Amino acid sequence: MIRGRGTIRIEVLNDASRSSAEMARDVRAGLLSVPKDLSPWPKYFYDERGSELFEEITALPEYYQARAELSILRETADEIVERAQCRELIELGSGSASKTCALLDTMRKTGDRSGYAIRYVPVDVSESVLRESAERLLEEYPGLEISGFVGDFDRSLGRLLGGPGDGGRLVIFLGGTFGNFTPQRRRSFLGELRAGLREGDHLLLGVDLVKDARTLVAAYDDGAGVTARFNKNLLEVLNERLGGEFCPDLFVHRVVYNLRERRIEMWLFSEVEQTVEIAGLELEASFRAGEGMRTEISAKFTHEGVDRMFDEAGLTLLDWRTDGLGLYGLALGGPRKVK
Ligand code: SAH
Ligand code: TRP
Repeated sequence: MIRGRGTIRIEVLNDASRSSAEMARDVRAGLLSVPKDLSPWPKYFYDERGSELFEEITALPEYYQARAELSILRETADEIVERAQCRELIELGSGSASKTCALLDTMRKTGDRSGYAIRYVPVDVSESVLRESAERLLEEYPGLEISGFVGDFDRSLGRLLGGPGDGGRLVIFLGGTFGNFTPQRRRSFLGELRAGLREGDHLLLGVDLVKDARTLVAAYDDGAGVTARFNKNLLEVLNERLGGEFCPDLFVHRVVYNLRERRIEMWLFSEVEQTVEIAGLELEASFRAGEGMRTEISAKFTHEGVDRMFDEAGLTLLDWRTDGLGLYGLALGGPRKVK
């Protein structure tokens, strides 16, 4: 059998160049809301340092999500790849793509057997991580065609899914990143995805499940303080990109489980009364001593909730798998057939 040598092509989508003005608008809105709230824009966490810290988080004993997700993937990869007839894997928010091998292994076996090349399309705002993971994957999978996009799926989902194809695409969205969206964004995101999927395409979505508050809070407030550093790194990103003068040491990391909304909330509380200048916004943000700013939400889901959400978006929930302990769920969906 002749197989291609494998290639990496990485395209930087031009939405990246517009993102400074967009970021200024978002952060201004967040700092002017009451309470201060940057959680609608989770993407700003992931500069190079933020991506490294997230990687560290996934290895923490308290952060069960990454291990649970990987165990379900390993368990179900063969079935999923077979069911989706998957030749092309599109990964949104691919990051270090550390769990993707579970699927690529199976795709490679199937591809080798049938004599076709397999394609991997990672998408991430974080360019450095995207490049590193692409190079590592090409070494591991020499025949792989990698076509990555540095870009923001808040803007580019339609374009990303608009390419040629006749099914056989599996879009994966792992790491619980979907839970970081506001409810409204979750709906619009699934709607946009549904619109981009063709018959024969599938979606694989990883979600963290509702459980006791103690386990949840611990996963976002680890003993080693890595998550606290990750949370405070957002202030460094604001300093770097918007000319802010935040002193991360004057803020403390706090995590609460909002029972009514079924979501973890990450906050930064100002330890002192202070005024922080942000030159790029021509704005001074005042904090009272003890005033909090919400920085991130991470929604928790149930099987029924995911089923309903898919249904509302015009997707059919084809398969639902959890790990042995029922901590985490993987949902396989496809576009609902229109009769
Ligand atoms: N999928 C990986 C990484 C999850 S962390 C895993 O499961 O371990 C979330 C990833 O999504 C980060 O790499 C971040 O850079 C990326 N991301 C967040 N918001 C994004 C957006 N709007 N567009 C593109 N990538 C985004
Ligand atoms: N998608 C991850 C989650 O919600 C992101 C995450 C993990 C995170 N730990 C965090 C975001 C700490 C902000 C702060 O589980």
